[in-house]
Amino acid sequence: MIKVKRSTKLIRIILISLITIFIVLSAVSFPLKTVIYKIYTAKVTKPVRIAQVSDLHSNYYGKNMQTLLNAIDEQSPDLVVLTGDIFDDKSDNENTRIFLKAVSKKYPCFYVSGNHEHRKSQWKAFRKEAEQIGITVLEGENAEIMGITVCGASSTGDGRLTFEESVKQCAENTGDGFNILLAHYPEQINYYRSFGKFDLVLSGHAHGGQWRIPYLVNGLYAPDQGLFPKYAGGRYDFENETLIVSRGLSRTKTKIPRIFNNPELVIIDIIPESEEQN
Ligand SMILES: [Fe+2]
Repeated sequence: MIKVKRSTKLIRIILISLITIFIVLSAVSFPLKTVIYKIYTAKVTKPVRIAQVSDLHSNYYGKNMQTLLNAIDEQSPDLVVLTGDIFDDKSDNENTRIFLKAVSKKYPCFYVSGNHEHRKSQWKAFRKEAEQIGITVLEGENAEIMGITVCGASSTGDGRLTFEESVKQCAENTGDGFNILLAHYPEQINYYRSFGKFDLVLSGHAHGGQWRIPYLVNGLYAPDQGLFPKYAGGRYDFENETLIVSRGLSRTKTKIPRIFNNPELVIIDIIPESEEQN
């Protein structure tokens, strides 16, 4: 009788230990995840697929950055947008350089800066490097591609244009087509919306709130938003606009580990409204 009790207790301990190990491992493991969003609109006549890379912070994604590059190739995007903190102020940025050189050879790339590119006044050098690689850097400028307009909110860092002024300039130069604003900072969504010109805003910066509890807490903390950030990551639909916040790609170069918060490649499909029922 005593023997049976002991073995039941042992099985229980083993089971609890295995479940605990499984939960801990799933919580702190951070494989790259691809997340796809679909947006239907009457403003486009043919589908456009966008890959969004955000907050890379020069993190390592396999030899020659192949893990990230392969994930992009698998989705066959029409263009790639880089929504800030791709270069990092504290890194040697070799991973970022390898990635930018490879990705720009395959896809049209549009880049706006984040806060880390502006630290230590390094943006001017980063911008020059990106442009020499063949990336289109947007600072309050708009680019037309495949029937949509890509607008880039980015401070020039030299006093010529603040971040807010760059958003205003983008809005003033957009037409009535499908306008996408690339803007690193999601917490400023009300400011972007105040212009009534941007159909879609693509942001990063929040790193998914670093810690998540699936189905309960969508992010614990984000810069400029504080605890329990409203825009930690995901899709947010407003009356006339959609905000998509990438959880970013930084996974090892942060002081605090990500928990239940995989780094992600974001794919956005802009699809003609007429195809919605198909
Ligand atoms: Fe940032």
